[in-house]
Amino acid sequence: MIKNTLTSPDDDIVNVTTGRPPAYVVHDLLHLQDIFGDHLELLRGRRVLDIGSGTTEMARYLHEEYGISRAKQLDWWYDANRHKLRRLVCVTHTKKDILHWIKKNTRYLISGTVNDTTVGDSTQDLVTSSHLLRHFEKREELEKAFLEIYRILKPGGMAVIVPIHRGKVKLITSLLEAYQINHEWIPITPEYKIEGRQFRLIITK
Ligand SMILES: C[S@@+](CC[C@H](N)C(=O)[O-])C[C@H]1O[C@@H](n2cnc3c(N)ncnc32)[C@H](O)[C@@H]1O
Repeated sequence: MIKNTLTSPDDDIVNVTTGRPPAYVVHDLLHLQDIFGDHLELLRGRRVLDIGSGTTEMARYLHEEYGISRAKQLDWWYDANRHKLRRLVCVTHTKKDILHWIKKNTRYLISGTVNDTTVGDSTQDLVTSSHLLRHFEKREELEKAFLEIYRILKPGGMAVIVPIHRGKVKLITSLLEAYQINHEWIPITPEYKIEGRQFRLIITK
């Protein structure tokens, strides 16, 4: 198990039980484990990208625990090539901690925004994004993000986006239908301890 040196700022809303991954990968992994069960190693050799990963260590964890060596994570606050911070990080860690974190995770990091990932067309087998798009309010913002996620997915690929509040389901459905993007809504169980009724959105290409 990876040593837990950094914890997610959202720890208090996560139900971390024995045998679960460390808190800083728990949001995304709980959802993946729901979908793939104990068969995450099926993603070996596949390209997996977590968007808006924050200080989680999703990609490193997938590599070290499941042998998924092509897992990467993308966020806009670090410069992955130059080991620098590009903008203020909305977490409680010190700058020293963060720079250490970047160094430790460099091989897994991609800098960019969800609207323009710089990732190639049709290259990703699985895209995950947790606690990012729920902050997007405007249709145009959501549209750009979804079109970008769809663009980078391989045909046959899947995106898992969590959590989406039920108030946004109608808007996102109309948006995805306008672009004929295949999708499915799955209610999220209370295990995730998120307020209100929330859904997991699965997009397939
Ligand atoms: C609430 S954190 C979620 C972190 C992690 N996915 C989790 O579930 O614990 C949201 C992250 O999204 C990043 N973010 C915000 N807007 C973004 C954008 N337009 N493109 C890429 N990342 C973004 C933030 O920097 C932050 O690290």
